[in-house]
Amino acid sequence: MKGLILSGGSGRRLRPLTHTSAKQLVPIANKPILHYVVEDLVSVGITDIGIVVGDTADEVRASVGDGSRWGAEVTYLEQEAPLGLAHAVLVARPFLADAPFAMYLGDNMFEDSLDEVVAGFEESGEAARLLLAHVDDPTAFGVADVDAAGRIVALEEKPADPPSDLALVGVYLFDARIHAAVDAIEPSARGELEITDAIQRLLEDGAPVAHRVLEGWWIDTGKKDPLLECNRLVLDALAGDGVVVDDEATVVDATLVGPVVVAAGARIVDATVGPSVAVGAGCRIESSTVDHSVLMEGSSVVGHHRVTASVLGREAAVVGSGAAVPSDLSVLLGDHSVVDVHGPAEESTGG
Ligand code: G1P
Repeated sequence: MKGLILSGGSGRRLRPLTHTSAKQLVPIANKPILHYVVEDLVSVGITDIGIVVGDTADEVRASVGDGSRWGAEVTYLEQEAPLGLAHAVLVARPFLADAPFAMYLGDNMFEDSLDEVVAGFEESGEAARLLLAHVDDPTAFGVADVDAAGRIVALEEKPADPPSDLALVGVYLFDARIHAAVDAIEPSARGELEITDAIQRLLEDGAPVAHRVLEGWWIDTGKKDPLLECNRLVLDALAGDGVVVDDEATVVDATLVGPVVVAAGARIVDATVGPSVAVGAGCRIESSTVDHSVLMEGSSVVGHHRVTASVLGREAAVVGSGAAVPSDLSVLLGDHSVVDVHGPAEESTGG
């Protein structure tokens, strides 16, 4: 079985971070999401992996390399524009040939074991095996209509009037029949070749499409709040209530409230950090309080601030003096951004 990871796309919903960086490379607990995806595939024995890349190809290549670090062999597949998930399958066809494959969206993370998902697929005769998850807002996803017997009868992408609350998770297993289905579909209203439409075509052709409903959490990390929620969940699993501080980090006069991870070269002085904070390499937190946040490499919070539910891009900084600011600061900062916050000016007495 081969692996196909989709790591193109524009990351529109995570701007401005994604103006300078791929959304799949945003770190969760200090590790890029894409690395978790590669590890997940390798853990079930899938080592022949194609990664579909777009505008951020160079950065993705620099981060993942040839895959040998994980015992995998990675082939990069260029997609000229983000024209849809089914278009990515089309682009990958020479790499995939007739092999069955697991397609994994590079910004998706889920708790259930991939092992159970993949088990028996190749012998099953199924043309596709899908993962579904109950969600609060099905209009944001592909949605499955499941009949009383538990069979999928139809799929619809981002339906205005969803037939169920079962969303398509961004992990799919296919055999070679998906290629003819991709050839048979037309671009959707949003101008993309939708994988949802290709699977719908399989259903219409009477091909067996199986599914399972996830038991654990699943997160499409493409927006700030889900990203922070994912960071919280992964930190919980990694550190529990504990703190993981790199030997080459400095922590002085600080309180760390787990789960917290602190990477090499970070400096935390006179501060309270946590819970649910990932402090990247070389970050500085001084005289401030930070919780439920992702601080990417080299970013800083300095000067009596209370930062919560925030994502700071590489080298981004919250500076100034927040001493008199009563409220929490919650921000999504692109790489190298600076927010200079001052408390209200001292009341003037001189008129
Ligand atoms: C894509 C799929 C959608 C699926 C979702 C999962 O949506 O089109 O069916 O539910 O991924 O993350 P997109 O991220 O392109 O909006």
